[in-house]
Amino acid sequence: MLNIAVFGSGRGSNFQAILDAIQQKRIPAARIRLVVSNNSGAGILEIARMNAVPALHVSQKHFAGEQEFADTLLKQLRDHEVNFIALAGYMKQLHPRVIAAYRNRIVNIHPALLPRFGGQGMYGRHVHEAVIAAGEKFSGATVHLVDEEYDHGPIILQKRVIVSPGDTPETLAAKVLKIEHEIYPEAIRRFADGDLTFI
Ligand code: GRF
Repeated sequence: MLNIAVFGSGRGSNFQAILDAIQQKRIPAARIRLVVSNNSGAGILEIARMNAVPALHVSQKHFAGEQEFADTLLKQLRDHEVNFIALAGYMKQLHPRVIAAYRNRIVNIHPALLPRFGGQGMYGRHVHEAVIAAGEKFSGATVHLVDEEYDHGPIILQKRVIVSPGDTPETLAAKVLKIEHEIYPEAIRRFADGDLTFI
């Protein structure tokens, strides 16, 4: 059984898509055990509360240092028996100890076709602006494993969308978000069903 913690800082639409897939029995071998956010006003926490999923707001600011923050996070993950982490719009880098504790069991979704248009500073609107400025014919979304470098781990699943001549960062973001909601639950299903294992 995949016991998932979803980490997010904002709206939470990818979390909602994963939750829908689980509730509709499309991923029978997974359940959401915890939602974590660094932002107390995040939509993702609200969605968790509405669905009776344990929701945790933890911010580095509340701790003396990075080690204490990592300790608390790891304890919470253990207490909720989490064995898999899905980052969904989480705007903080995970502490190396959290990455090490969940090596090959942390995934992220990125709103472009990695390895291009990724890395530090490439988030939200910046990604779509860069894709349009580069004159790309295609963009898309990527689910990948998380390691110590931004947007760097092995790619698990990608899907393309066409960049139309009239696309703005907003219209492109909307097209990409639609396919994010398709591929993220599907990538998690593959882990849950054992179709994908990284060792
Ligand atoms: C998505 O575009 C995702 O690709 C990126 O952050 C955004 C999160 O959106 N990593 P949401 O909070 O899931 O709606």
